[in-house]
Parts: sequence; structure tokens; C-alpha cells
Amino acid sequence: MSNFVVVGSQWGDEGKGKVVDLLADRMDLVVRFQGGNNAGHTVVVNGQKTILHLLPSGILSKNALCLIGPGVVVDPFVLCQEIDTLNQQGVSCDHLRIAQRAHLIMPYHIKLDILQEKALNEHQIGTTKRGIGPCYADKYTRIGLRVADLLDWDDFADKLATTLKIKNAQLVKLYDEPPYALDDLLEMIKPVRDRLLPYIVDGVAMVRDAIINQKNILFEGAQANMLDINYGTYPYVTSSSPTAAGVCEGSAVAPRDIDQVIGVVKAYSTRVGEGPFVTELQDEIGESIRTIGAEYGATTGRPRRTGWLDLVVVKQAALINGLTDLVLTKLDCLSHLDKIPVCVGYEIDGKIQDYIPASSKIYASAKPVYQILDGWNCDISAIREYDQLPENARKYVEFIESYTHTKVSLVSIGPDRSQNIIRHPLFN
Ligand code: GDP
Ligand code: IMO
Ligand code: MG
Repeated sequence: MSNFVVVGSQWGDEGKGKVVDLLADRMDLVVRFQGGNNAGHTVVVNGQKTILHLLPSGILSKNALCLIGPGVVVDPFVLCQEIDTLNQQGVSCDHLRIAQRAHLIMPYHIKLDILQEKALNEHQIGTTKRGIGPCYADKYTRIGLRVADLLDWDDFADKLATTLKIKNAQLVKLYDEPPYALDDLLEMIKPVRDRLLPYIVDGVAMVRDAIINQKNILFEGAQANMLDINYGTYPYVTSSSPTAAGVCEGSAVAPRDIDQVIGVVKAYSTRVGEGPFVTELQDEIGESIRTIGAEYGATTGRPRRTGWLDLVVVKQAALINGLTDLVLTKLDCLSHLDKIPVCVGYEIDGKIQDYIPASSKIYASAKPVYQILDGWNCDISAIREYDQLPENARKYVEFIESYTHTKVSLVSIGPDRSQNIIRHPLFN
């Protein structure tokens, strides 16, 4: 056994939650390392669906401790609601821990997220409006409030007073909005602070001890490679690093302690929000995939944009993350198609290339180069052995492997925890 990373290889919503839940039973610790409640990770066990936003997707497993890691941004109100929802479903969150170094999303971050989007007009990013960008911005300009600050209430009030002056100036002068009153904010936060205190730990020490004691750790990514702040379709990205490199940054683990990096790939592409999407389908086939795949945001409910599988995107994810394995999800959602085009290159300015341009404007002008594969035209959701899959479905899987030079270790053919075809064991 070893330490695993699960990351998204496209634009998010690949099924990371399902994969993390599946592996969590064999883990001692599951760590979210970046992002916040912009994530929506769905886990389905015996038909019962749970959508997790901040809680690690290992929370349904009793074996693993679940850490909201130092690189995460935490909305304390949302976190309390999520704990309540799980408790109502009979799921205990006693195995949850929250890292002191994680930053807090405050009500003014959400407000500023909404206001900035409005101000961007036709250039808006299409954020989840959860305050993610403004919270990370405050972290990097060093006026953020951290989970650790909650431990000393007087100190918290002091720090909030200082930051609030700057935030209120932005709200009033830039956006002509009313300021927040310090006392109102403190009164709102106090009860959630009291509730979260028992979960707060030193996340760095927790991960270090787990590594020293050779525990099995799973690092759970939110979002995906194409939404990465550095390597995604900037500015149409999120404000963190959802990559394997982000694991080291966001959970205090050294690169040498990561053994396997699993990239989750949806059998087609989806994207929520704005930004270039070369293989997008704006026709009835795209609509059929949206309907069959139930492609509506787990966080915002927005319809997801749909398109053909883009292997240039997946290959980029394989390289940047050093993917050791792929998990291919939602293959069952393509079973109604006779022909399935897969993008293997871009035509830009009359030239064919197989990498992603830095400029989103140029990227938006790219035309997809397709390899057309044959469909299999039958229900595959009950199949559990790889060699029972129709030949054309296997060809689809193997085409992905040969293009990305990465093995597909698991094929998911339904949302339920049990709907998987294991091709290569993920555990040594
Ligand atoms: P995440 O953000 O990467 O965790 O993915 P989401 O939960 O946002 O979106 C994935 C959606 O696909 C969820 O509704 C899952 O229940 C569902 N899902 C995952 N794997 C499969 C699969 O193999 N087949 C089908 N039909 N649905 C799946
Ligand atoms: P999971 O973990 C899909 C997108 C938003 C927007 C952009 C920036 O469920 O895969 P943000 O609120 O982060 O500032 O929004 O990123 N986005 C996601 N899209 N899945 C997600 O998470 C996403 N998290 C953010 O739609 O385009
Ligand atoms: Mg999601």
C-alpha cells in the first residue's frame, strides 16, 4: 500500500467523489488539499446519493480520518450545515479534522465574488459565487483569517477588525455597497466557531505523523487540471492548484512521499462556467449526453456544457500530474451513440498541434481534429469484467491508453459505489 492522489483530468465533475469513496475504506487518512465548497463531489452507496462540498469524500467510510487540509478555503457556515446534513442521514463526522492553516471564507468574500462577476460583464468567469477567489486573494495579500485564528477569540476579533477596514473600503468605494459591521460578523461567527473548535488540529503534524507511521493516505483533489490557476484556461480557472503539485503545497507532504497519482477522466467532456471548450457540442447529441449523464452542477445546479472527449486535455493532465493510472468514468453514458469522435489535436492558424495554447483567445479559435471511433450500442452498466465489455467499448478504453501513455486501471459504468470494472488493481 502507498499514498494516493486523486485528481480531475478535465474541467471537474469527472467522478472524483466516487473514486475517493471507493478507495477510502483501505485508507487511514483522506485529505482535501485545495479548493473549497466550489466543489461538489457525489457519492452513491446502495442508491443513496450524498453530495459533499467541503467534507472529504472519505467521510462515509468509518476507517479513515478525514482532514480538511491546510490548502483548503473553509466556509465555516457551509461546513456546519454539511455536518448537520450528514448527521441527519445517520452519518457521524467524529472522524473529521480541520487544519489550522486553512483559510476562512467570510461573508464579504462571497459578496465580493458576486460583485466582481457582475463588474466583469461579458467577461465574467462564471464562478460558483462561493467566495473562493476573494478568499485566496486575501490569503496571498496576507490579510486572510485562518482556522487557527478561531482558537483565540479576542485575537480573531482584532484581526477581523483590521481586515474588515480594507474589505469595507472595497465594498463602499469600489462597488457602492454597504459595509459590514464588525459586531454583526462576530455575532454570526461565534456559534459556528464554537461548534468547529473540537475538530481543529495541526494538519501539518497530522500528515507528518501519518507518513512517519507508514499509514495509507489518500489526497483528494477538487476541480481539475484545466481549472488550475497556472495551467488552466486562464482567466477561466479557479484560484488554486488542483494538481499533484498542489498536494505538496496544500497538505505539507513531500513529493517523494506520493506513490500513485490517479487521474479521473470522464468518457466525454463537460465544463461549467465560461471559457474555451474546443469539443463543445451545442446540438441534440450534446443535449442527449447532458440528459443521460445527468450533467447538472452538483454545487450550483447549472447545466454543464457537454462535448466529445478531448485527449489533448487528458494528455496534458497526464504530463502535468505525472498520472500513474486513469480511472475512466461514465462510459455507460455513451452507449446510445453509433459513432464517437475523440479529439486528438487542434487546428490553429492552419497548423495541427497537440498541446494547449496559453492564450484563451487563441485556444477558443482552435478547431478539433477528430478520430472517429465506433460505438457499442448496448447497455454496459451491469458488466463487471473487462473482457465482457463489447469490443468497441474496449477499443475506446485502449485508444485512451495509447494516446495518453497511461493505463486505465478502472472503468466506472454507473454512479453507484458497486458499478466498476477493475482492470489493474490500484493497490499493490
Ligand atoms: P466530482 O466533482 O469529480 O466528484 O464529480 P460530480 O459528483 O460533480 O459529478 C459526477 C456525476 O457523475 C455524479 O452525479 C456521479 O454520481 C456520476 N457518476 C460518477 N461515475 C459515474 C459513472 O460511471 N456512470 C454514471 N452514469 N454516472 C457516474
Ligand atoms: P469539482 O470538485 C466543475 C469552475 C466554475 C468556474 C471556475 C471558477 O466538483 O470538480 P470558482 O468558484 O472556483 O472561482 O469558479 O471554476 N468550477 C468547477 N467546475 N467542478 C468543480 O469542482 C468546480 N469548481 C469550480 O464553474 O468556471
Ligand atoms: Mg463536482
